Amino acid sequence: MITNEQLSNLMDTNDEWIRTRTGISTRHISQGQNTSDLAVQVAKKLLAQAHWTPESVDLIIVATMSPDSYTPSTAAIVQGKLKAAHAVAFDVSAACSGFVYALSIADGLMNNPAINHVLVIGSEVLSKIVNWQDRSTAVLFGDGAGGVAVAKSTEAHLLGSHLSTFGDLSNQLVAGQTTAGHDFPKQVTGLTSFQMNGREVYRFATHEVPNSIQTALAEARIKPTQIDHFLLHQANARIISQVAKRLGQPMEKFPLNIDHYGNTSAASEPLLLDECVRQGVVKRGSLIVLAGFGGGLTAGTMIIRY
Ligand code: ACO
Repeated sequence: MITNEQLSNLMDTNDEWIRTRTGISTRHISQGQNTSDLAVQVAKKLLAQAHWTPESVDLIIVATMSPDSYTPSTAAIVQGKLKAAHAVAFDVSAACSGFVYALSIADGLMNNPAINHVLVIGSEVLSKIVNWQDRSTAVLFGDGAGGVAVAKSTEAHLLGSHLSTFGDLSNQLVAGQTTAGHDFPKQVTGLTSFQMNGREVYRFATHEVPNSIQTALAEARIKPTQIDHFLLHQANARIISQVAKRLGQPMEKFPLNIDHYGNTSAASEPLLLDECVRQGVVKRGSLIVLAGFGGGLTAGTMIIRY
């Protein structure tokens, strides 16, 4: 665990600035474990909780913006290490909306009669692509992983979704950019670290997240007041309170854990869901909204009867 105090020894920042501007106090930084290692740990826990054998898994989707490699996909590595020999596996790249995108894809693919048991995992080792000299981004991110086991059911649990992509704003948040070579046969190496127009992403999130949630709710004919909990991507506590205000809903309905983890991108929503379930905040039958936003730029909402 790395505290704000520790970061202030590395760069010109301080605990007060980070806490008041973002709500973050600590974050976890991986020491040697890559994105697939974290995802495998999550997958094993999910199998144990669901009482599934590895052979019973039909599909593994890993949402990540910090994969181990271009190829193989992180999901393929997880499939191999899990010995889930019958599962098809692939990654989804939609940054902090990745988990909602992946869950929505899983939901669609479950119409296939051959797909009954699915693992959807969000896993990130963002510390690989953070520039630890850049205070404008380094204080924001953390490493982590979480996931859900989804099984076919006769009852409707995924009640609606809304996904959107704004590629014209793609340069507002970039990481891991590559460069095409122009000096053949000189080898091209290196990936760029995070660069973000924080104010623009803030503006985007506080507008598009409420839009996405309202559109998904309207299509499902559900009113915001009927939702028990809004589980928003944990990028900034101030963004979440702005979204609550725009939706006219009390902050008590918006659980926060950004304080301990920072922004873990695709891992943030399954981490929050897991904590809410363990703490008894989200119970069987609770009506919840999952909403993500981030690189792409992207936004996504899923309405779930837990
Ligand atoms: N410590 C101390 N001072 C800092 C730091 C820091 N870590 N970072 C910036 N500052 C300074 C700036 O230099 C600036 O100083 P100046 O006024 O002298 O020029 C001042 O603080 C204010 O900077 P702003 O960038 O205007 O601060 P702002 O209030 O906008 O907060 C933040 C910045 C937290 C990044 C905010 O814009 C934000 O949360 N944006 C959204 C980010 C986000 O949600 N990303 C999610 C997507 S993540 C994904 O997809 C992976």
